[in-house]
Amino acid sequence: MRILVIGSGGREHALLTGLSGYQHELTVAPGNAGMATLATVREVDVADPQAILKLAQDIDAELVVIGPEIPLVAGAADALEAAGINVFGPSEAAAQLEGSKAFAKEVMAAAGVLTASATRIETAEEIDAALDEYQAPYVVKDDGLAGGKGVVVTEDRREAMAHAEAVIAAGNPVLFESFLEGPEVSLFCLVDGETVVPLLPAQDHKRAHDNDEGPNTGGMGAYTPLPWLPEDGAQRIVAEIAEPVAREMVARGIPYHGLLYVGAAWGRSGPAVVEFNARFGDPETQAVLSLLETPLGEVLEAVACRRLAQLPSLTWKPGYAATVVLAAGGYPQAAQTGDVITGENLDDPSKVLHAGTAQRDGHYVSAGGRVLNVLGQGETLEEAVSNAYAEIEQIGLPGSFYRSDIARAAIEGAIAVVDNEDHV
Ligand code: GLY
Repeated sequence: MRILVIGSGGREHALLTGLSGYQHELTVAPGNAGMATLATVREVDVADPQAILKLAQDIDAELVVIGPEIPLVAGAADALEAAGINVFGPSEAAAQLEGSKAFAKEVMAAAGVLTASATRIETAEEIDAALDEYQAPYVVKDDGLAGGKGVVVTEDRREAMAHAEAVIAAGNPVLFESFLEGPEVSLFCLVDGETVVPLLPAQDHKRAHDNDEGPNTGGMGAYTPLPWLPEDGAQRIVAEIAEPVAREMVARGIPYHGLLYVGAAWGRSGPAVVEFNARFGDPETQAVLSLLETPLGEVLEAVACRRLAQLPSLTWKPGYAATVVLAAGGYPQAAQTGDVITGENLDDPSKVLHAGTAQRDGHYVSAGGRVLNVLGQGETLEEAVSNAYAEIEQIGLPGSFYRSDIARAAIEGAIAVVDNEDHV
């Protein structure tokens, strides 16, 4: 199959890795330097659906896999489908589950899905009253697309206010939400109309530094599966969240076809939605797909061709996987770029995936905030994490940093689900 992958980060490198080895002809756009060993790298403006369509037509793509949310919310899937090209990714209307948090709340209310209560404001004059209404810990969200970075959760009213002011100054509405208790789960669900198939549950680490300190980032590391999740945890998230939402979208005449990322917090009342994304999560995907045995091309094609219900059950490698992000100095505020990266396995995507890299004079150099994702697998979660750290320790990048506590709380047994006041 000729497959075009849209995007340029570690998630897309993981998608290409999953698609490689099956005689597919792979193209990625705009891609990054590390992807050139697996795919032809082309230019494209990801915010321009017509440019994506033109590229897909130029290479005669039989399947287009859209990684990031920007092209989805801009209508790239609609443009490709109208031209008769199979596409993995929801329509512009369905991608509003990520693009508009107000829309997502409305769909959840109609579908009877548990989520935080929320108030949306558009002017700075309304901030004080919203902060009074919600109390600490404050959850303040950018109601535009923010690449997973637009959320501030803080006990500090001044910090909450400063974030709300900054979002409004940038021209976006702000959402204040009640704080959802409990450990967070990222469950990626393949959705094809009313058919929902979950991937392995994962957990992301969003803060920049150890012990969940520092600013929010796109994600600094992840692991999968979750040893602390109840055995029926993924199935409950599917039954209580993903399936009702999928049915509601069909009922509204905007069926969802693609990947629905359910970000849930598991509190006393069970799993409640923190956020939806209309795409694979980054960096959880890097860990999750490293354990998938079913050929990824068959999975994505089944959704794109509206035959997910006929796909045999997914098969997974046993054990655990972890990914740790190597970030450039200054990330997430002002990432330092252009520094040479050294390491033995920079061209082995089973160990190192590229997120923000470029080539200069025959060397890889940093070209983004999150630069690399290293991967580790193991029979136990501890082994998977220790393999990932062994890998990252031999990579050199001046000024870079990484979290040293990915999955630590899970390994130490410090995460527990408390559901209906019973310890599970
Ligand atoms: N891992 C967070 C995100 O993809 O938005």
